[in-house]
Amino acid sequence: MFDTRISRRAALMGAGAVAAWMHNPARAMLWQAAALPVPAFIDALIAKMTLAEKAGQLTLMPSAWGGGVATALNPASNGPNFDGQLEEVRQGRLTGVFNGNGAEMARRMQTAAMTQSRLKIPLIFAADVIHGHRTIFPVPVGEAASFEPGLAERTARMAAYEAAASGIDWTFAPMVDIARDQRWGRTMEGAGEDVLLGRLIADARVRGFQGKDLKDNDAVLACAKHFAAYGAAEAGLDYNTVDISERTLREIYLPPFKAAVDAGVLSFMASFNEISGVPSTGNSWLMETVLRGEWGFKGFVVSDYTGDMEMIDHGFAADAREAAKLAFLAGVDMSMTSGFYRDHLPDLVEKGEVPVARLDASVRTVLAMKARLGLFEDPFRRIDLKREKARSRTKPALALAREAGRKSIVMIKNDGDLLPLPKSGKKIALIGPFASGSDSLNGPWVVYGDNAQAIDLATGVKAAVADRSLITVVQGSTVEAPLPGGIEAAVAAAREADIVVLAIGESEGMSGEAQSRAEIIVPEPQQALAEAVAAVGKPVVIVLKNGRALALKGAVVNAPSILVTWFLGSESGHAIADILFGDYSPSGRLPCSFPRSLGQQPYSYAHKPTGRPNPSETQLEPYKAHYRGIPNSALFPFGHGLTYGKFEYSDLSVAPTLAWDGELTVSAKVTNTGKRAAEELVQLYTHDRAASVTRPVRELKAFRKVTLAPGASEVVTFKIRRDLLLFIGRENKPTVEPGLFDVWVSPSAETQGVRGSFELKGA
Ligand code: NOJ
Repeated sequence: MFDTRISRRAALMGAGAVAAWMHNPARAMLWQAAALPVPAFIDALIAKMTLAEKAGQLTLMPSAWGGGVATALNPASNGPNFDGQLEEVRQGRLTGVFNGNGAEMARRMQTAAMTQSRLKIPLIFAADVIHGHRTIFPVPVGEAASFEPGLAERTARMAAYEAAASGIDWTFAPMVDIARDQRWGRTMEGAGEDVLLGRLIADARVRGFQGKDLKDNDAVLACAKHFAAYGAAEAGLDYNTVDISERTLREIYLPPFKAAVDAGVLSFMASFNEISGVPSTGNSWLMETVLRGEWGFKGFVVSDYTGDMEMIDHGFAADAREAAKLAFLAGVDMSMTSGFYRDHLPDLVEKGEVPVARLDASVRTVLAMKARLGLFEDPFRRIDLKREKARSRTKPALALAREAGRKSIVMIKNDGDLLPLPKSGKKIALIGPFASGSDSLNGPWVVYGDNAQAIDLATGVKAAVADRSLITVVQGSTVEAPLPGGIEAAVAAAREADIVVLAIGESEGMSGEAQSRAEIIVPEPQQALAEAVAAVGKPVVIVLKNGRALALKGAVVNAPSILVTWFLGSESGHAIADILFGDYSPSGRLPCSFPRSLGQQPYSYAHKPTGRPNPSETQLEPYKAHYRGIPNSALFPFGHGLTYGKFEYSDLSVAPTLAWDGELTVSAKVTNTGKRAAEELVQLYTHDRAASVTRPVRELKAFRKVTLAPGASEVVTFKIRRDLLLFIGRENKPTVEPGLFDVWVSPSAETQGVRGSFELKGA
């Protein structure tokens, strides 16, 4: 696998061998094909640059402004203070900074670059604008639960509109890593476990961030990260080793990146992990053969934070100089944080170990990108203090946050139609560490948003009900430790109430980067609170806060109603109240399966059948694939989510054969047999019964939302053509084979809905 165009050994060869490698005609063509259109002045500028200035253009640093906002989400860096950083700008030793705070910082730095540096090359300002800038939208995994790529595009657009007014040219988003192990804390930052959903959301978010034209003062350069397979870390441990086949890489982990390229993304971030022994930061197969060669990517690749330096700890590079050389020759154009390129590229070029043409190619791409962002025409186009204020947390942005919030919520259980709750006449006890207060409203990966400005649950609930005096709020427990007297107070409040709303789950510090969890449960003190409150006997609605799928148990899973609310951002409380009191029928679906037990991880609905599948969900047969005592299915599978309607699936129609170049129509009737209008997410899955490479038990191929009044029906139609049935074959190339396929139109990945089959006829 991974026939590296340049191996570690080759990268460490002497200058002559490297030059020969560079002059390989096929390789030269690769670089030409991958080039961005470059305005003529850029080559003239490069001709004037010293090696140190060239290396400076490939050096990105965390901003030193404000004493370390930039490193709050990353390990501390030993860089200079802000004045020192300004001096580096004057000397042309920086291409830009990231996660600085606002237009004032950008104005001061850009002024230094444009008035006091020798070549007056504008700086680029980057930031982790992951799910909103000042207005915070749901965490990406929550937003993916909307199954509405159009919504993801609109929130990314709004985030770009706000961020681009505060001096930000470039966001380190979208993260498009597929996550199939819920221990991995960064599940919250992607679109979940499914390839199709991952592709659609990647496409939408890139287009949202980048807008119509990167020169516009409301557009930011997007960055697809982390390339690649960062989410496949062994045991869900962040930064851990990845060892997967090329087929798995191409079929599961790469497609969202390809979708980002097709959507026009112009920057990529290399991932921290190794894949089968080669750290991504030093993997030329990934960045040259696949990204630039096969996909024709024309932008630049940045390392992750100290990614080049970390190749020393991986045991792949002997020292800083070698790490810089390996990363650079593998195709990482820009180094983030380590300073290794600045410190070593000039010498590597002087000694002939890195061809100057190769250095110039990366500098050219970075400068061309600055031109594409309009920075040479007007270095201050995104730096405007008045505009920064005017665009911050506008009414339309907050309305969008509320819309996105309620569309992200997934109702996974609603026994006896406990929800929606009445707005009057009932006493409600709002219990739990997330019942009120500003803790964990925005969620992880927020650099610029402020939890104190977000709406908490108590505020949202009180605004929705007719009589606020019927609402009692009790904390009951802290997130990870019992609160003295907390359970007693909660039990007393539950006794007094007609209904309990229990807001429990993970805090924002428990997911995100470096927050892998060995147990994916509601923390024990909160579980104890749930058990005590349930024992009172009042109906309980669980409002779960979470950045990943959790293994729910005891009183939590046994509660009649459960809402999965992730971290919803600025309008959290309003959005949850919209659902609780029926102003909006839940429409979200799980983008990641909730397992029965931690032991099932990693888990995806799209697993392989094995040679001994257990034939029934309800009966566990000996010598079949399941754990002791539990079926190997999810408790709440991918695609699952209830509404305030009730939907029945019937009348599947599918033609028996699909001609090789033909099209087949699959349709099913969906009826709302419930008492309320609601939106149903109708999902199309297929399974290839026998192929030259084994296929998953089901794969999502399409989905459609339909809104139906009580009693109404709609025939939902999907088209299937051969290309929808492609898979990565024996030769690691996309292929499709004739044969029998099962097809489902269903409300989730593990329910039957209606099922049929068809045969794809050979050519
Ligand atoms: C490390 C993270 O992996 C990456 O996603 C982020 O963009 C950088 N830090 C910068 O904050």
